[in-house]
Amino acid sequence: MSLKRIAVFGGTGNLGPDIVGALEQAKFDVTVLSRSAEHPAHLPRGVTIKQVKDFTSVSELTEVLQGQDAVVAVPGPVGIPLQHHVIDAAVAAGVKYFLPSEFGSRTDNAHARKLPVFAGKLKVQDQLEKLAQEGKISYVFVNTGAFFDWGLDMGFLITDVLGQKPISLYNGGDVEFSTSTLADIGKAVVGILQKPEQFRNRFVTVNSAVVTQNQLIAAAKKVVPDAPFNTTPVDTEVVLQKSLETIKSGQGDIHGAMLGGLMSAIFNPSYGGKFPQEDSHTLGLGIDQAGVEAVVAKSIQKKQQAK
Ligand SMILES: NC(=O)c1ccc[n+]([C@@H]2O[C@H](COP(=O)([O-])OP(=O)(O)OC[C@H]3O[C@@H](n4cnc5c(N)ncnc54)[C@H](OP(=O)(O)O)[C@@H]3O)[C@@H](O)[C@H]2O)c1
Repeated sequence: MSLKRIAVFGGTGNLGPDIVGALEQAKFDVTVLSRSAEHPAHLPRGVTIKQVKDFTSVSELTEVLQGQDAVVAVPGPVGIPLQHHVIDAAVAAGVKYFLPSEFGSRTDNAHARKLPVFAGKLKVQDQLEKLAQEGKISYVFVNTGAFFDWGLDMGFLITDVLGQKPISLYNGGDVEFSTSTLADIGKAVVGILQKPEQFRNRFVTVNSAVVTQNQLIAAAKKVVPDAPFNTTPVDTEVVLQKSLETIKSGQGDIHGAMLGGLMSAIFNPSYGGKFPQEDSHTLGLGIDQAGVEAVVAKSIQKKQQAK
């Protein structure tokens, strides 16, 4: 099956532009569904922007999706539930494949599936699995682990890559976890859509590298050896319990509590954060030690320039 026309929902955000750019480079015909009609400066001129006024309107979405072969959905947390309408519209428009907004931890892991932060994603999986069983559409669930370059830039994998503030060292810092650059995620989506039958109706687990926090700190020390690199030990189980209490109470920083659960998914090995490598090999992904160090160095340089 050859897929040519790809609609991307959420293509203007943190991850979307790398997927949109990779699809466009690979000569797919790309349409970005956006709340805005304007062509964002950070998206290639060659892609089409289609405004969707109401992402809950299946009729509006069905019209917009006419002629599309696949939908790649990359909305962030607020847009995750809107995918239900986009999926219904995709089926009505005869779209063949749907890649929902996964792009993170192993949501096929039994522990991860209990985390509140993934509840919305699991509902979308349920809808797609049912529709696929009925032969109405096919799906691919793409798990990528933590974003690597973006995660460093955001202070998410190492709290402070410049080493000025204490770094939260989760479960000792030697836990191996999978991580993907945004560019590799774009490459993975291209590879999947070029040979969709190979990945049809299953989880696909990809990464650029398997790393530990201590390895990332060692790489950062090569760039800024005089920074202090103090660390604070953090037990993800303690963070998780506090997060669950906050979510249960419905009071306080619910968004922060949701993110607290993510730290378990990355840094507690029983959540499957270190991925099997078959899909990454098939899709030609991966960076070596020098590549890992280059990503760390680039993030530090960006932060130094921003100072
Ligand atoms: N593994 C990791 O480390 C990691 C990190 C971050 C994100 N993720 C995952 O990657 C995926 C994409 O996240 P992201 O951070 O790239 O998303 P994002 O930047 O928060 O949102 C992407 C786009 O979604 C659209 N959108 C947002 N709210 C909407 C709404 N209410 N109605 C309609 N459209 C809306 C916006 O497009 P328009 O303004 O053009 O409408 C926005 O640019 C998610 O599944 C997220 O969980 C993973």
